[in-house]
Amino acid sequence: MAAGAVFLFILDRFLRFCQSRPSVDIISAACRPCGTTELILSKPANLRYNALSFVFLQVRELSWLQWHPFSVSSSPLDGCYHIVVSANTNSQDAVSLYGLGSQWENKPPNWNGVDPCSDSWVGISCNNSRIVSMDLSYNKELTGQIPSSIGSLSKLENLILVGCSFSGEIPQEIGSLKQLVFLSLNSNKFTGRIPQTIGNLAKLYWLDLADNMLTGEIPMSDGKNSGLDTLIHTKHLYVQYL
Ligand SMILES: *[C@@H]1O[C@H](CO)[C@@H](O)[C@H](O)[C@H]1NC(C)=O
Repeated sequence: MAAGAVFLFILDRFLRFCQSRPSVDIISAACRPCGTTELILSKPANLRYNALSFVFLQVRELSWLQWHPFSVSSSPLDGCYHIVVSANTNSQDAVSLYGLGSQWENKPPNWNGVDPCSDSWVGISCNNSRIVSMDLSYNKELTGQIPSSIGSLSKLENLILVGCSFSGEIPQEIGSLKQLVFLSLNSNKFTGRIPQTIGNLAKLYWLDLADNMLTGEIPMSDGKNSGLDTLIHTKHLYVQYL
């Protein structure tokens, strides 16, 4: 079983290696309305694609490890020598969401596309290419843990996962989501302590962690760290312990 997985992984890497071209030239780059990034690239002679293809680009000046997803746009500018590609979702947000989805079972079927904002992933709302809202409530079959990579969704305002079957600990990194207004994780199977870092969410209006299996104490500010008592804008605060 493990050997099979390792084999598939190596095969995947090998195919990607074979498919990848050494480098292409960027002919032009533009920011379109709604946060879309558009690039026009020189086209390798033997590249085959259609208007629904995706290309993964690596920009070595940014990172040697990251590949950024772009969709091929059919464009009147498309010709023999160039190809127009665009990405709607901010790539940090897209990568963070792939990380989340990879940890979950029974995620919404359309979470297999490449561009969460332009493919309208179920439960995801975007503004200017940033993910501002995730609401997957009342999906009882949705299981898995919330990975720490959720902390990269830095423009998230609503995180609403009521009545799913998420388990494990609520990650500390949730405290990096400084724009959060609604945080509703009630009626899941979360265990462990409430992260102290939730006290950093100064814009929080609604906090509901009830009906889980949380233990420990309510984190209070201690002079060094803020706690739930520092959430002065929170009008609805509901936590519950075993
Ligand atoms: C989208 O974001 C801009 C700031 O980037 C903000 O002014 C605007 O109100 C937002 N729109 C919505 C619908 O939230």
